[in-house]
Amino acid sequence: MRIVVVGATSAIAEHCCRLWVQQGAVDLTLVVRDIAKGERMAADLRVRSPQSSVALATVDFMAPAEIAALAASIASGGPINAVLIAHGVLPVQQQCQDDLAFCREIMEVNALSPVLFAEAFAATLGRAGRGTIAIIGSVAGDRGRKANYVYGASKGLVARYAEGMEHRFAGTDVRIVLIKPGPTDTPMAARLKAQGRRLATVEEVAQATVDAMAKGRPVVYTPARWRLIMLIVQHLPRFIFNRLQI
Ligand SMILES: NC(=O)c1ccc[n+]([C@@H]2O[C@H](COP(=O)([O-])OP(=O)(O)OC[C@H]3O[C@@H](n4cnc5c(N)ncnc54)[C@H](OP(=O)(O)O)[C@@H]3O)[C@@H](O)[C@H]2O)c1
Repeated sequence: MRIVVVGATSAIAEHCCRLWVQQGAVDLTLVVRDIAKGERMAADLRVRSPQSSVALATVDFMAPAEIAALAASIASGGPINAVLIAHGVLPVQQQCQDDLAFCREIMEVNALSPVLFAEAFAATLGRAGRGTIAIIGSVAGDRGRKANYVYGASKGLVARYAEGMEHRFAGTDVRIVLIKPGPTDTPMAARLKAQGRRLATVEEVAQATVDAMAKGRPVVYTPARWRLIMLIVQHLPRFIFNRLQI
């Protein structure tokens, strides 16, 4: 089993890696921006599973040519079974409104960069005719709301992109999986935690991610109750929705 994890230092991704190495020997390539942090994570995974292989790679997460070259180089090492694209950042909405450079950066990290990685690995998995690409979106991508519509729009873009890729690979053994977590107890959600928001555990979200990837499920809400919550939110008529303080 050969798995590539982009943005591997994300708490959700790290817990996915722990689950994969628990399942047996696995060949992991961790793509990170902070090599020292990646080394610590790789060392921990090697202790958990001495029989697994854990390699590290770094790249400019915004550079199309570097990303394409990295995907090709990883693919040259043997067939890739699965790719998880996990990186992202949850900004303060007001800062996105006040600082357009910051707004652009958020869109780039959360939307453009995952798209570049997905496209780069789709090329290699497409040639092999099999494999799974999973991207972590968010329930926030289901409907724009004033509290976080820059983040929400970036995740909405990822969702639409995954939908198109799923269509592209329909009828093949390439699976596209979109994970939509609700608020989850990771460093990203520290602000929400401080506000007393109820958060899912990272273990639960990682387990749902690993399971969804194994089954090749196209869209997975985790925890599962978010499917119903977002169905309601998406269908609220504007005259009600626009009065909500959310
Ligand atoms: N936690 C939640 O409530 C929640 C809810 C819905 C969706 N999600 C999504 O789940 C995914 C994983 O998030 P998490 O909760 O595990 O958060 P996390 O632990 O804070 O991890 C964030 C990851 O994104 C990377 N990252 C941040 N800024 C970056 C940049 N400019 N360029 C490249 N990489 C960057 C971080 O790298 P470094 O380690 O180098 O900083 C880290 O790998 C994200 O896509 C997030 O949007 C999270």
